[in-house]
Amino acid sequence: MPIMGPNGNGKSTLSETIMGRSAYHVTQGNIYLDGTSIIEMPVDERARRGLFLAMQYPAEIQGVTNGEFLRAAINARRPEDQQISVRQFLQELDRNLELLDMSTDMTERYLNEGFCGGEKKRNEILQLLMIKPAFAILDEIDSGLDIDALKVVAKGDNSMRGDNFGSLIILLFEYVKLTCL
Ligand SMILES: Nc1ncnc2c1ncn2[C@@H]1O[C@H](COP(=O)(O)OP(=O)(O)OP(=O)(O)O)[C@@H](O)[C@H]1O
Ligand SMILES: [Mg+2]
Repeated sequence: MPIMGPNGNGKSTLSETIMGRSAYHVTQGNIYLDGTSIIEMPVDERARRGLFLAMQYPAEIQGVTNGEFLRAAINARRPEDQQISVRQFLQELDRNLELLDMSTDMTERYLNEGFCGGEKKRNEILQLLMIKPAFAILDEIDSGLDIDALKVVAKGDNSMRGDNFGSLIILLFEYVKLTCL
């Protein structure tokens, strides 16, 4: 489902509130994931239950490689005795890096460190494909991407399609108007 709106009308605030950013306090309504209210849950619990936010401005984290981060995020959603094997992890990683046309050396680089805007956006989609959440919010995944990068990102999101996956795609209104000209 797409949500569109011009700059500054609250798209990121809505996304972060759904994800559970503690700076925001919900005064009315509720948030349900698969019929369960998640409104009292901290952000990590929401993520474990299958909620995912591809951030508009992904953070750079020194000292943690993309590979380590992805494995930790995948395993956080699995029971102790069903952690992903290194072999399966690498197989899935290779397949998704190819799908997204990303270089394999990014696995050893620190999380988003020195990545250009387009690389950061692709990296968010890589996380989406690897973590396989139940519901993904993609906050302005389109902004700053050229048309080829946009196709790659759309391919990634489409490859997740199925009965067990939903997504809320936030688009920058001006960008949509421009592409419609
Ligand atoms: N429901 C709300 N009530 C009051 N202020 C709000 C509300 N939602 C958002 N804001 C404020 O509006 C400002 C812009 O919000 P936000 O960054 O979420 O917009 P955005 O649509 O994501 O903008 P952009 O397109 O530039 O990314 C922020 O200062 C935020 O705190
Ligand atoms: Mg925003």
